[in-house]
Amino acid sequence: MSTFFVRPEVAALKPYSAGKSIEEVRREYGLTRIIKLASNENPLGPSPRALQALREAAEGVNIYPEGPSTALREALGARWGVGPDWIFVGNGSDEIFRLLATTYLRRGDRVVVPRPSFPVYAGASALMGAQVDAVPLKDGAMDLPAMAARARGARIVFLCRPNNPTGGVFAAEAFDAFLRAVDPDTLVVLDEAYREYDDTLFDSRAFLAEYPNLIVTRTFSKIYGLAGLRLGYGVGRPGIWQPLYTVREPFSVNRLAQAAGLAALDDHDHLEASRRMNQAGRQFLTAFFREMGLRPWPTQANFVLVDLGRPAAPVFEGLLRRGVVVRLPDPADLPNALRVTVGTEEQNREFVRALTDVLNA
Ligand SMILES: Cc1ncc(COP(=O)(O)O)c(C=O)c1O
Repeated sequence: MSTFFVRPEVAALKPYSAGKSIEEVRREYGLTRIIKLASNENPLGPSPRALQALREAAEGVNIYPEGPSTALREALGARWGVGPDWIFVGNGSDEIFRLLATTYLRRGDRVVVPRPSFPVYAGASALMGAQVDAVPLKDGAMDLPAMAARARGARIVFLCRPNNPTGGVFAAEAFDAFLRAVDPDTLVVLDEAYREYDDTLFDSRAFLAEYPNLIVTRTFSKIYGLAGLRLGYGVGRPGIWQPLYTVREPFSVNRLAQAAGLAALDDHDHLEASRRMNQAGRQFLTAFFREMGLRPWPTQANFVLVDLGRPAAPVFEGLLRRGVVVRLPDPADLPNALRVTVGTEEQNREFVRALTDVLNA
């Protein structure tokens, strides 16, 4: 423990616990062959166009990046049908959640989050001394009426579609009713990190136009395969983003990330191939779980949460020993569940073999 003063908000928090890295598992278990299906990355890798852009941009890394990512904001704005000032680019969407909390939350303010969901919303809010009000899922889905009721007087509400770690979504009508019920002074952050995996989901653009207190975030870490570069963005009214430019680090989004993101946006083949591979893998894993008598949660994302009907921690450990890394959700929420990222066909088969082995042991 530090002998210097630490803000109580910091002392009360635990560091973010990421999925185990390949390097960690290699060190801890002395394994050479490891399959990582823990962090919902793209098993197909980055887009070849992004890789080419990276090689070219590498020559210029002696020069600071362009601070506000103007070219990328212009390209994204054109896609979303809005001006570039509606787009805010961050060092991963994680940075955007942190900046929103830093900019908009004071000690004691209330923030509403779904539970279980992506832990960064609660962590970034708690860091500012905000009260985090976690609303449990209902019948496996986000309970939007309950969240709207609890949002009264709250400064921010975070929503996640598809939700991590459960994979489920909500309908446009439910979202509309939610937005109508929420006070216009309450900021609504809709995190769509996995949205590109399912083209059939409703388009949040119409809602952005109608509700000035809504922002939508996306990431290049998932379907675009650029998690290691750290790149995410938000879409919403320029007035919401303006104060974030004061709070952010001037050069938080590096030159390589900006170049790769711009190139990845145009790589429709990579996007389609990633989507197809994911859909096939998702079906394969879901069917396997059902055959095994396990209960997969309905998912529109690139991962499947599965209820094993028994404590998941020993199964997680057994998989690790066999070189397969998946994700153990917070046992306080989901003690019997594992979350597995959809991998390549070969990775999925290896996972299935390892899981069968562990469950039969
Ligand atoms: C729901 C959700 N939002 C955001 C992120 C993080 O995105 P980024 O890599 O852009 O910070 C993740 C990563 O796992 C996620 O699951």
